[in-house]
Amino acid sequence: MKKLKYGQVGGGVGAFIGPVHRAAVSLTGKAELVAGCFSSDHERNIESAKKLGIDPSRVYRTFEEMAEKEAKREDKIDFVSIVVPNYLHFEVAKSFLENGINVVCDKPLTLEIKDAFELVNLVKSTNLEFMVTYTYIGYSMIKKAKEIIKSGEIGKVKFVVAEYPQEWLLNKRTIGEGTSWRLKKEYMGVSSSVGDIGAHIESLVSFLTDLKVKRILAKLSCFIHPEKLDDNAFIILEYDSGAVGNYWTSQIASGNKNALKLRIYGTEGSIEWEQEKPNRLILNKIGEPTKILFRGRETSSKLINSNLTLPMGHPEGFVEAFANLYSSFIEVLLNKKLGKPHPEKNFPDVLDGARGVTFVHTCVESSQRGSIWIDFPKID
Ligand SMILES: NC(=O)c1ccc[n+]([C@@H]2O[C@H](COP(=O)([O-])OP(=O)(O)OC[C@H]3O[C@@H](n4cnc5c(N)ncnc54)[C@H](O)[C@@H]3O)[C@@H](O)[C@H]2O)c1
Repeated sequence: MKKLKYGQVGGGVGAFIGPVHRAAVSLTGKAELVAGCFSSDHERNIESAKKLGIDPSRVYRTFEEMAEKEAKREDKIDFVSIVVPNYLHFEVAKSFLENGINVVCDKPLTLEIKDAFELVNLVKSTNLEFMVTYTYIGYSMIKKAKEIIKSGEIGKVKFVVAEYPQEWLLNKRTIGEGTSWRLKKEYMGVSSSVGDIGAHIESLVSFLTDLKVKRILAKLSCFIHPEKLDDNAFIILEYDSGAVGNYWTSQIASGNKNALKLRIYGTEGSIEWEQEKPNRLILNKIGEPTKILFRGRETSSKLINSNLTLPMGHPEGFVEAFANLYSSFIEVLLNKKLGKPHPEKNFPDVLDGARGVTFVHTCVESSQRGSIWIDFPKID
């Protein structure tokens, strides 16, 4: 089977996540980059395309032009990878869906809830595939954790404690030119810490457990954010099952780089995972010694086997987590192209993205109304 073809919107010279997406796709070996609109600044767009060896006839001034012209080509791209600032996600994704092109979009899906559900409806009506890159779901040990929880090994989940502290907003060196849009509400959205990193926690807990959020109480604070967006948030959740959760997000927690950590407690034990040590999963079962599971030794699972295979002891990292997501997504497209039944979808989709946007808005609403409980809508 030939490789699929893809294009990218964003990810020009100097961008953060675009090159990570490209490295990840290239690791899968299943798709090649052939088109792009890498920057809104056309000089930079051309410079980026040259460095990437893109045929100049497939370098576009705007994403609208790219979506329309690619759709008309016989050898059109199979999917687009959207890695632009948050405020553009909706328009770019909509444009490609309307032109019949599958979409991968980074988080958060959109700024507004209504736009997120417009994309959900568009995906349904076009029968196209849509992945939202909630990176951490790609890690093998997160998939292992999902299997452990599903198997009932830790019993019925009773409470979740998750934190995602960073310190970048405190540090003048990390607030460079490239991060300028993140400091502006119209580009970033209604929330900074919950929108940027809290959404990752929500997606992970939803992926790992069957818990459905029932209501949320949040206290968002702004200590230093220039546009008075939250840079620290404490969130309490109740789930339908009666379980409860406690999430913390911060961009001003001195000493923390990207310290996402999850602990899920059940009636028979608990699991614990840290993003900065992603190849390790801690399992505690009542009355038994603590087990530390390492990627590569704890394999033989359907979920993990769909990931790229790195031998044990060769750490899987951030790029590989993206690559695992892309690998599953591309597999679905390849099978669809061949008219074969879909392999199991092993990636976050547009509905997961819409639930994430709803989560962010619910936290903001709770906090703005004096940190009261707000019911969370049913999203299935
Ligand atoms: N999943 C993750 O772990 C993760 C990590 C970092 C960032 N992100 C998300 O990725 C997105 C991009 O973040 P980033 O840090 O790479 O930002 P960035 O500012 O480093 O890069 C954005 C890129 O988009 C380009 N761009 C802006 N407007 C454009 C337009 N109209 N047309 C074409 N290109 C345009 C810019 O020139 C730049 O190349 C954000 O939504 C962010 O939330 C996700």
